[in-house]
Amino acid sequence: MQLKEKVAIVTGGNTGIGKAIVLELARQGANVIIDYISHPEATEELEKQVAALGDRAIGVEADVSKVADLEKLVAAAVKAFGRLDIMVNNAGMETRTSVLDTTEQQYEKVLEVNLKSAFFGTQLAARQMIKQKSGGRIINITSVHEDWPMPGNTAYCLSKGGMRMLTRTAAVELAPHKILVTGVGPGAVATPINLTTMQNPAAMARLDAAIPLGRMAEPQEIASVVAFLAGDGASYITATTILADGGLIQSSPGL
Ligand code: BGC
Repeated sequence: MQLKEKVAIVTGGNTGIGKAIVLELARQGANVIIDYISHPEATEELEKQVAALGDRAIGVEADVSKVADLEKLVAAAVKAFGRLDIMVNNAGMETRTSVLDTTEQQYEKVLEVNLKSAFFGTQLAARQMIKQKSGGRIINITSVHEDWPMPGNTAYCLSKGGMRMLTRTAAVELAPHKILVTGVGPGAVATPINLTTMQNPAAMARLDAAIPLGRMAEPQEIASVVAFLAGDGASYITATTILADGGLIQSSPGL
């Protein structure tokens, strides 16, 4: 229970990797604000699962592409639990469109949901943590595509590349406040974002063959890295991303 008494916010927290992160942080003793934009019933179910672990989780409907909604999340953490120790900027989406095809609307949406939310989530969380004077952890869920081009998913790659630089720059700025900023970079994970691939056996076979470990990750295998970065064992890690990709980018020429 290395996160006992800690308070976390997880954006995009009622599905996919976010849901696994909520459960893992709770397993380690944290109370959690679960941000979500749809499926309130999934959030309620998750609140119950967290309660069964002996912690509290509160679902807050908030669109993280809006700064005012991010403010709502921090205010909810402070109101319910009196503080904020761990901010997980996890909410993300992709359009799988190329540089030639991406519309202005798609570009704006992807950049706002993935990058703007992480930028202002970092800003607002850090302001709260600085007030508390006891440091904190900000963890950005990026991707192997923070660095590795994914042709046909251009805006997504831009947003993740931006998150990589946000992680590094904010970490340097916030280090004097003992706020550590890190990234977790998954490869392919069995979540709704990869549903189309998962429903296509030929595409799945290609993907599995490209991954040295031979399979996609389960969301839990990403959540455990987040919990590590949130805990005491990661007290000297900042300004970097830990990849959890089964070796994908070391061996694959591309998918
Ligand atoms: C993307 C997936 C892709 C995976 C591996 C993730 O960041 O969201 O669509 O399958 O990277 O390339």
